[in-house]
Amino acid sequence: MTEITNEKLKFALFGCGSIAAKHITAINRLSTAEVVGIYDIDFQVARSVSEKYSIPAFSTVEEMIQNTNPHVLVILTPSGIHARNILELIHYQKHFVVEKPLALRLDEIDKILEECDKRGLKIFVVKQNRFNPPVRKLKEAIDNGRFGKLVMGTIRVRWSRNQAYYNQKKWRGTWAYDGGVLTNQASHHIDMLIWMMGDIESVMAKTATRLANIESEDTGVAILRFRNGALGIIEATTATRPKDLEGSISILGEKGSVEIGGFFMNELKTWNFTEPDIMDQDIFKNDGQVPNVLAWNHSEFFKNVVHSIRDGKRGLIDGIEGRKSVELINAIYESTETGKEIFLKFRPKRCRLGIIDDI
Ligand SMILES: NC(=O)c1ccc[n+]([C@@H]2O[C@H](COP(=O)([O-])OP(=O)(O)OC[C@H]3O[C@@H](n4cnc5c(N)ncnc54)[C@H](O)[C@@H]3O)[C@@H](O)[C@H]2O)c1
Repeated sequence: MTEITNEKLKFALFGCGSIAAKHITAINRLSTAEVVGIYDIDFQVARSVSEKYSIPAFSTVEEMIQNTNPHVLVILTPSGIHARNILELIHYQKHFVVEKPLALRLDEIDKILEECDKRGLKIFVVKQNRFNPPVRKLKEAIDNGRFGKLVMGTIRVRWSRNQAYYNQKKWRGTWAYDGGVLTNQASHHIDMLIWMMGDIESVMAKTATRLANIESEDTGVAILRFRNGALGIIEATTATRPKDLEGSISILGEKGSVEIGGFFMNELKTWNFTEPDIMDQDIFKNDGQVPNVLAWNHSEFFKNVVHSIRDGKRGLIDGIEGRKSVELINAIYESTETGKEIFLKFRPKRCRLGIIDDI
């Protein structure tokens, strides 16, 4: 493991496609962290990112690690190969940041967590929306018991992704490398629902492929029962036309209701409680919005990563947290395949997600 000094924490990117720009911006904005190197299997891709951001690109991972000695490897490859990438890189003894979802299959995730634990390595999953100010306030209200008995939690992802979006990258919408709207776009919201409402007892779901020509679903609905007795609803589609409508969460309880909307759970819409609290004062003004700054919440995520590594604290979204949404997503697919209510803890029997033929 690279020694932690007072210098900035060093991050190296593994894969640098569409999302890499946000990571570079988010990390390099911090006074405590920097991107020291980038690698992509397609060297042309790495080179063009390198030229844009003046960060050295390497043609092999070996070379990148020898030259930059990073503390953290950031995995930005297609979702279906996250697990393979992490397990191949683990012998370098570096901590990991992984884009969402952590991986597609639970057996892969369990292997990753076991191997990281064995080596004392930390792993963090990018769920940047957990750092949105209205989301943080909602979580605080739940943790302080302000809702009383929880009644229902709902997430809605009504986004627009046309065929050109799916055609642009050949892994998108495939069972082996991506999954559909539930695994990809809605995985943020599914993570949020579990974070707010707690463990899940069971799920029943239906999916459909309505407008996109892809293997997996562009539309899905699910009904949940949480362990605490509350109910949950997931409504997700990338087939909203002609443009994005919302990405929202609402939590209803005995003594309050909160709705956070916007496109990425970024705007506080409703904050109603029967019992007032000091935190209600100016909540819309102080915490109602995510600042309009590129990759702002990615930066907040990386601050948490740096803090966790430097101070030996648990990260907000570690591997165990990252596993929860994948468990539910796998169970949702099993429900759609079998027509049955699926109870968690869950081991897939009939889920097509993440099965790669070539390994
Ligand atoms: N947090 C978010 O809001 C958010 C947003 C977009 C994407 N993502 C996630 O980020 C990941 C990447 O998505 P993207 O849109 O950037 O994909 P992309 O297709 O644009 O980029 C993936 C890159 O990985 C490279 N790659 C593939 N196999 C590789 C290998 N074996 N070794 C090294 N590089 C390899 C490709 O050449 C490509 O440049 C996905 O898991 C996706 O779900 C998260």
